[in-house]
Amino acid sequence: MVTAVQNDRLTQVGPDTSMGRMLREYWYPVLLSEELAPACDPMPLRLLGEDLVAFRDSAGRVGILPEYCPHRTASLTLAKVEENGLRCLYHGWVLDVQGRVIEVPNEPEDSTRKLRVAPTGYQVREVAGMIWVYMGEHSERKSAPPFPAYAWTSMPKDRVMRMKAITRSNYLQNVEGVIDSVHTNFLHSTALRPAANAMATTMSADALVRPSLDKHPKLRLQDTSYGFRYGAIRKPITDPDKNQYVRTTLWIAPNTVTFPASAGEGFMQIFVPIDEETTIFWSLRYSFTRSYSVEETENYAKWAGLARDGDLLDEAYRVRRTKANRWMQDRAAMRRGDSFSGIKGVNTEDMAMAESMGAVARRHLENLGPTDLAVVHMRRLMLQSLDRYEQGGKPVGMAEPVAYDCLRADDRVIPLNTPWQTVGAFAGEPVTGEGPSGAMDELEPTS
Ligand code: FES
Ligand SMILES: [Fe+2]
Repeated sequence: MVTAVQNDRLTQVGPDTSMGRMLREYWYPVLLSEELAPACDPMPLRLLGEDLVAFRDSAGRVGILPEYCPHRTASLTLAKVEENGLRCLYHGWVLDVQGRVIEVPNEPEDSTRKLRVAPTGYQVREVAGMIWVYMGEHSERKSAPPFPAYAWTSMPKDRVMRMKAITRSNYLQNVEGVIDSVHTNFLHSTALRPAANAMATTMSADALVRPSLDKHPKLRLQDTSYGFRYGAIRKPITDPDKNQYVRTTLWIAPNTVTFPASAGEGFMQIFVPIDEETTIFWSLRYSFTRSYSVEETENYAKWAGLARDGDLLDEAYRVRRTKANRWMQDRAAMRRGDSFSGIKGVNTEDMAMAESMGAVARRHLENLGPTDLAVVHMRRLMLQSLDRYEQGGKPVGMAEPVAYDCLRADDRVIPLNTPWQTVGAFAGEPVTGEGPSGAMDELEPTS
């Protein structure tokens, strides 16, 4: 069981907390490029409990700075975007995209004050149609960790569906949802379809069609350079005494998960903390082989619950289906048998479960079993990482180079005597090695 103290350590994200400082050691996508159009107004942004301003200068460069002007702390969200930076309304100081003060028009010409103000900007990269930030330290004082160049980040734009939602719960319970294989058999049971011939030994043609009716997956874990991966092992419909159906899922520390998609495609979800009680939910769907049409992308976003229309998301990407309106649960559809959850959108179902726990889940009330093993292992690695980080060590996933572009989740039916680790393994990745096996006495966090 996670104690109340451990729960706080896991879920706090602010700059004055240990976990908040550790979470700042990673790169995160925070905006779609199109949200910061050329010459647009500065945009208020909040990340990891800190108020920020994002803007694009006339050369197209993006800056992300603390919201409050380094002179006398007026909000820079009110500032004017000018050729080389952001001009504060109060006394006209200009800050460039790195947060360097480049004009102090209110001071005498010989003033050296601007030289004494340390730059306040965070490191920013614009990759794959998204704006990414590293908030570990201000840009000129520390080098950033390697950029997580996942395969989809170098794909043509129309091969990647980029969807985001602002959801009202702590990042960790959202991450836990994606490394919880068994919930798909229940929460998403309306969308999933079992079929004996869904696949033979290759990845499923349709991510929602599975060759199994088994609702009791065994989880097996393997620690890796980036975090860990697990195999959820189910009995297949065909030849269950000879074969096993393995679905692998990768936890990429601290808040990213990739899980099996249809053949030739991938799914990734990233949960970026805005503050303790609010999270940016990124959903990426990408194809290694083909482009998606605009219509296909729009239809998928509606199906997932990630479209900015109707009763799903508002203009600012905030989820409209919330606790305040009981997630607009359709009890009549449930009674008719048309919907297991009564909640529209597969990802809305996930976000509803996370929000329904309370903004920060009360983990000390839980009773865990073997199908919660991946959730427990993730918490354990995060707590161990935090202990190490507080002693000056490297956070989880940062100790050795990671082949980000090779990471794949996969699902296959394989013979019972073939190691599950062969599913989705890439060249150079060990296919042996096993983490905790799911025995109850291995379920406890050790920090
Ligand atoms: S507070 Fe911004 S220039 Fe004075
Ligand atoms: Fe889910």
